[in-house]
Amino acid sequence: MNPILITGATSGIGEQLAKDYAQSGQTVYVCGRNSAKLHELVALGKHVKPLQFDLTDLDSCKEALQNLDPIPQTWVFNAGDCEYIDDGIVDAALIKRVFTINVIGLANAIEGAQHHFSSGHQLVIVGSIASEMALPRAEAYGASKAAVSYLSRTLAVDLAPKGIKVSTVFPGFVKTPLTDKNDFPMPMMIEVDEAAKAIKEGIESGKTNIYFPKRFTWILRILGSLPYSLQHRLAKKLIKEKQ
Ligand SMILES: NC(=O)c1ccc[n+]([C@@H]2O[C@H](COP(=O)([O-])OP(=O)(O)OC[C@H]3O[C@@H](n4cnc5c(N)ncnc54)[C@H](OP(=O)(O)O)[C@@H]3O)[C@@H](O)[C@H]2O)c1
Repeated sequence: MNPILITGATSGIGEQLAKDYAQSGQTVYVCGRNSAKLHELVALGKHVKPLQFDLTDLDSCKEALQNLDPIPQTWVFNAGDCEYIDDGIVDAALIKRVFTINVIGLANAIEGAQHHFSSGHQLVIVGSIASEMALPRAEAYGASKAAVSYLSRTLAVDLAPKGIKVSTVFPGFVKTPLTDKNDFPMPMMIEVDEAAKAIKEGIESGKTNIYFPKRFTWILRILGSLPYSLQHRLAKKLIKEKQ
């Protein structure tokens, strides 16, 4: 069974995915900063290997990912965070925080790991369906995930000749500590085990784009393909409904 590495394995979607893979006995590198949670995961078996580092620090990423034995064949870059902008008042520090983990953290992890990549490997990069449409309050999060989506889809093109597959994941709402902070309705939200199952199945079938839950992500994809003027009118309605 192929060894796998998962960033953001200490909570939410990444944690569930790590547990699911660990159950099948395959080597799982679990990455995160939370040492208590990493200890908990290691208790699942010797095949669960903790890597504690902060993704926003390139040197830490390089050090943690320098020597891995066995070398992972599947690389899940899942770590991320979400913060929202209120009433259109731009907060540059907030935008920097969100981009630093979601975009720069992703780039740091890839740079730290890429000397291991070879033909037959699969990279799985977790974006968000929020990147498909300009949604209220998502100036920071949505923009960061649009950058993640572009980075991932570009990497898929550039790494294809080397036999390396890159899959982009577009989740809708999933119940995790990240969404527990939200104070607005989250339509068609799914549980974390369903999300992990969808990612695992997507990886196994070698999908280039992994969308879930199906119905919600289809709606967002259709809305996102409409002319911007129409999307704008629909998004404004969402704000009115909130007031
Ligand atoms: N939940 C949803 O509805 C949803 C929807 C669309 C997309 N997503 C995306 O799915 C991914 C996972 O989300 P989630 O809901 O499972 O979130 P979560 O429960 O908050 O977990 C986030 C994970 O990211 C790690 N992380 C955050 N900052 C880090 C840093 N500086 N260095 C290293 N690790 C860091 C955390 O680990 P430590 O705290 O231990 O460092 C944690 O394991 C994210 O990319 C998110 O944007 C989620």
